[in-house]
Amino acid sequence: MPVTALVSAKSSGVTAASLALTLASKRPSLLAECDPAGGTIRAGFLQGEVGAGLGLYHLAAAERTGPDALAQAFANHLWTMDEAGHRKLLPGLTDPAQAGALGRTWPALSEVLHVLADDAGYDVFIDAGRLALESGRLHTTLTPAPLLHQADLVLLTVRGTEQSLTLARHLIDPLRTELAERGSGPDALGLLLIEDGPYRAHQVTEALKTPVLAALPFDASTAGYFTNGGNPPRGYGRSSLLRHARTATEHLEAAASRRKVQQQYPARPGNPQLAGVLQRLSERGGARG
Ligand SMILES: Nc1ncnc2c1ncn2[C@@H]1O[C@H](COP(=O)(O)OP(=O)(O)OP(=O)(O)O)[C@@H](O)[C@H]1O
Ligand SMILES: [Mg+2]
Repeated sequence: MPVTALVSAKSSGVTAASLALTLASKRPSLLAECDPAGGTIRAGFLQGEVGAGLGLYHLAAAERTGPDALAQAFANHLWTMDEAGHRKLLPGLTDPAQAGALGRTWPALSEVLHVLADDAGYDVFIDAGRLALESGRLHTTLTPAPLLHQADLVLLTVRGTEQSLTLARHLIDPLRTELAERGSGPDALGLLLIEDGPYRAHQVTEALKTPVLAALPFDASTAGYFTNGGNPPRGYGRSSLLRHARTATEHLEAAASRRKVQQQYPARPGNPQLAGVLQRLSERGGARG
């Protein structure tokens, strides 16, 4: 299954969309909250239910011990979002100052996420926050650049408004160049459209010269639930955001498969030790949730 990273130019709905996709997928799924500006799911959707002792920051120390320690810590720092244990969350940073410590963790974390996707069949989503550039390149502290380089799909999340398209326009070329030179290829880049504003998918594709790979409706009550937590709104299970998110995961899977078929980049070598740890994770169900 694909590893899909979501980014934005500016607050477009990345976190809400990441949760919607993760909770709606037909497959076991995982959301890695890797926004270097700090995670919002812990205090928002989870309403403080998960303490700072669990989450992404703790992987930095484990990575220094080695790949097995990292894989083990990864499995131990997941929060399970559903009773069946199929929806996992790696909670994000509690303080943006922690991002500096993760520079060398991102490549190793990327490998773990790909093993989970390829060998354990997980749909993996990464909330990579807002893009920040530095001399035309992805900023090394303010973005989890290695996660974007290695992702099967990088979705620039935009709304169908003039403001959103204006900001996104400047990011397309640097991002595509970066993925061509340091990533898995320029065709990893696609758009996720939040259907807010006058522009339709074909107009957004045209305006940004990049395909809209999936679209999610404007649905303030379901998105508000993902942002603030609390009781799910009436009709949550049948909400338009969740239903379209389910369809979107299928479109993303299809787009990633097409890429794999066409890809001239070499496949990543497998890592049996990592695969073993993650297989156990699927059986065990992760931390209480
Ligand atoms: N599909 C949607 N329909 C309606 N409102 C939405 C939708 N997606 C997000 N929102 C709302 O827009 C606001 C920003 O959403 P969110 O926090 O997901 O954006 P973000 O891109 O992660 O922002 P940031 O860059 O600040 O982390 C929130 O109030 C959220 O509830
Ligand atoms: Mg966010």
